[in-house]
Amino acid sequence: MGTTRQAAPAYRERAGSYERDTAAFQPYRDAVVGALPLRPGQVVLDVGCGTGLCSGLLREKVGPQGSVIGIEESPEMAAVAREHIAGEGWDNVTVMQVPAEDVQVGRTADAALFCAVHDILQSPDALANVMATLGPGSWVAAGGGKWAAPLMVALNSMVSLLHTPYVRSFRGFDRPWQHLEPLLEDVQIRELAFGSGYVMTGRTPR
Ligand SMILES: C[S@@+](CC[C@H](N)C(=O)[O-])C[C@H]1O[C@@H](n2cnc3c(N)ncnc32)[C@H](O)[C@@H]1O
Repeated sequence: MGTTRQAAPAYRERAGSYERDTAAFQPYRDAVVGALPLRPGQVVLDVGCGTGLCSGLLREKVGPQGSVIGIEESPEMAAVAREHIAGEGWDNVTVMQVPAEDVQVGRTADAALFCAVHDILQSPDALANVMATLGPGSWVAAGGGKWAAPLMVALNSMVSLLHTPYVRSFRGFDRPWQHLEPLLEDVQIRELAFGSGYVMTGRTPR
């Protein structure tokens, strides 16, 4: 409890340009959200929601009767997300500005998305806390960047350049799902972009 660390500079100083700076990743966001099975009326957590680039896609899937709950530690990123939400008039999308390690959602959620949140996936405390919020059999999808095979030197140089602003550490970047996988059943992992990206899905134990 009481995590006091600061968000990475990209999330403090460049929240206003984050969407432009990461526009090229949008097809991967679409792929990760597309892999998460959701039904109208469900409650979905958007863990590390940033400026909310996945929130509208999630909202389309749960519909007006469902809810999207963003969890975001950076006040600057959460502020941009809240501007979008207000601008769109989405009354069923909210952002809780708190680290995933500490968040208390106050209700049971039906699903969780981890899109481009490598740091959160490397935090067993964050994963345990989020999993405790999900009901049995809840779907989880995660996706983002990863190291390609070591022989893909040029590709991995590009991966390093692209992701350096957005990760605290590349620890675990060869298998970003390694802490999440043991918490789930029916796990499926698909590599994208010659191994420099992935989408993983699974369900909480029933
Ligand atoms: C690369 S951004 C991804 C944002 C969004 N999911 C997307 O697809 O654009 C990672 C986000 O995770 C947030 N984050 C990192 N560690 C966190 C933590 N422990 N709890 C909550 N948010 C965290 C960062 O502040 C940042 O906004």
